[in-house]
Amino acid sequence: MAMATLRFIGRKIVLGKQGPGLAAASTLRRALATTVGSVDKQKRLLTVRWSDKSRRDSLLPLAWLRDNCQCSACFHPDTLSRLQLMENFDPKIGADSVQFDDASKTCSVTWSDGHVSTYKYDWLMRRSFDSESQQQRSLWYSGKHELWGSDYAIRRHPFDQLMKSDSSLLQFLNDMEAFGLTVVEGAPIAGTEGLRAVTDLCNRVAFPMETNYGTTFTVKSKLNPSNLAYTPARLGLHVDLPFYKDPPGIQLLHCLAQSNNITGGENFFSDGFHAANLLKVANSDAYKMLTTRLVDFYDYETDHLADFHMLCRQRVISLTSDGEYEMICYNNQVRDTYLNMPADQVQLFYDALKAFDTLLHGEQCSVSTKLKEGDIVTFDNRRVLHGRNSYTVHGTAERHLEGAYLRWDEVYSRIRRLEESVRSRQP
Ligand SMILES: [Fe+2]
Ligand SMILES: [Zn+2]
Repeated sequence: MAMATLRFIGRKIVLGKQGPGLAAASTLRRALATTVGSVDKQKRLLTVRWSDKSRRDSLLPLAWLRDNCQCSACFHPDTLSRLQLMENFDPKIGADSVQFDDASKTCSVTWSDGHVSTYKYDWLMRRSFDSESQQQRSLWYSGKHELWGSDYAIRRHPFDQLMKSDSSLLQFLNDMEAFGLTVVEGAPIAGTEGLRAVTDLCNRVAFPMETNYGTTFTVKSKLNPSNLAYTPARLGLHVDLPFYKDPPGIQLLHCLAQSNNITGGENFFSDGFHAANLLKVANSDAYKMLTTRLVDFYDYETDHLADFHMLCRQRVISLTSDGEYEMICYNNQVRDTYLNMPADQVQLFYDALKAFDTLLHGEQCSVSTKLKEGDIVTFDNRRVLHGRNSYTVHGTAERHLEGAYLRWDEVYSRIRRLEESVRSRQP
């Protein structure tokens, strides 16, 4: 078996020509207080042992290193985008030498075509391929959820504070990510300032998501209502707009008027992921049904924007490919009269839906609150279901909420940038 030829020049590794059937690993001398590396030419992998012993060894594939050269010919420094074209990229390119410089904390690789790539140590450490580093990175993608039941005390955040302080805003968004239900209190209610407060809050976070109900929507009892929310009827626990392929991420409802002359109208909420966990244990057949069967949701109406006929098939409980909860999509008000499943499955489907709905509304899951004027209740519309008791208005009193939506993509983006500026967390 041919062996890799290695020479050591100080801390520089010079690698010989790569022949067929090379030995599994070519190990370098491990100096005590210097950063050293070893290249496995067969696996095309550079392993780096850092002089900082508190750091884990980094695993860095050669193809990935070449792909991510940070020089200005390969990577645009202003747009932070890859300039190198895949058509010019050789994923099997050889590395002639690897050099570590602990003074400048940089690692340089000289490739077989003469190109030299230089990487900062901390940049490489954060991108290591060991499972612990990759798990750490995954936290930037998936929500850090803390599931709750009926004993959840809804987190409250003062409107003024999060409008002016970035660390308060970050705290609010971290609570939204973890619990998916908070109240922002003390928002203005009078005049145009009151009317635009929910938009101002959206703009402080990102920007409102426009839907078939507009950029914002007004929840009041209306003549000729286009949505059941615009009547005084009781609304069972639901998510909004399940007839979108990508339903809104966060819903915000700003209470502008809720007089003492109104009986009822309390809001209630339930953590759908928590209820799904309970269902999985109590009734695995129902859980299987709701995580697999597609259900039709629709919206056929005319609102001030347009005539619309929205349609989407969704699983009531959506799981990711890793089996984690992705989204709850359940809204009995706009579940279509068409039911796209074999007739012999229909009874089982209703039994499953009834079991889930009972858990959601049950005393283990549901929390209730009556919004005060100036409260903006904000909730994860893809996880936390909301409902409302019917209400009766006495005299001329009015119940008035202004609503808006945000997308999680933009909210997560905001969280990451705030983590960077407030907590100096590097991307
Ligand atoms: Fe709703
Ligand atoms: Zn380059």
